[in-house]
Amino acid sequence: MTRILHLTDLHFGFHRAALEEPLLARIAALRPDLVVIGGDITHRALPPQMRQARAFLDRIEAPLMCMPGNHDVPAWNLVARMFWPFAGFRRHFGPVLTPVGRAGDVRVMALNSADPYAWQRGKIREGEIGRVIGNVDAMGTNIVALHHPLQQLPRVDKALARRASEALYRLEASGVQVVLSGHLHRWATDALLATGRHPRVLQIQTGTALCARITDGQNEFVLLEIDGPDLRLERHVAPMDANGFGTPEIADYSRVSGVWRRV
Ligand SMILES: [Fe+2]
Ligand SMILES: [Fe+2]
Repeated sequence: MTRILHLTDLHFGFHRAALEEPLLARIAALRPDLVVIGGDITHRALPPQMRQARAFLDRIEAPLMCMPGNHDVPAWNLVARMFWPFAGFRRHFGPVLTPVGRAGDVRVMALNSADPYAWQRGKIREGEIGRVIGNVDAMGTNIVALHHPLQQLPRVDKALARRASEALYRLEASGVQVVLSGHLHRWATDALLATGRHPRVLQIQTGTALCARITDGQNEFVLLEIDGPDLRLERHVAPMDANGFGTPEIADYSRVSGVWRRV
């Protein structure tokens, strides 16, 4: 049994400071094997926000892997955005923008979907799809983690990241079984599976862990418990009017038949 915790859209600088300690306590209690930080670690990519976020992440005892979100690229300093868009991220969150994490027989491969030229929309880089496909472990569970979703529900009014659909088809064909994403600050897993378009990939689109934007409705993160072809999601939710996480919502899935089904 491997425990992967997905934490995304922390938005340090515009975050719920009162939720920091309850979040750290809940993470410590869950004892994950690996924590995946899905981008938008800061709100405006400013050095003080990066330092504050780094200090928070340093208090997580489990191994961490981080990838950039659009908010981790300078939004206002256009010179920095064009010429050294990931310098601050590399300095504070690791020199590699596309790390690979391993825990048990689970492999987590990050994509960098932040695009300095299309700040909100993002893109999947052609070379990165091939790199991930080359890293797929035929015997284990393969997870791709990135900031931007690879599929969006019809109600989403944001443009899908460039090359997202192509990436999803190719990753599914190559044996990637799970995709973790953030960015939309809205939970979607069953609704994406129900579209029937990519039955061999469980797309877990997680909401924001700490962002203070009231219209997000709640903060949340998810723990994946992976046991061969079986996967349990534990979704931990903190309503905006409560400084703590409630009893997690549990959902079980299996890909024993070759496609994902909720069981
Ligand atoms: Fe975000
Ligand atoms: Fe984002």
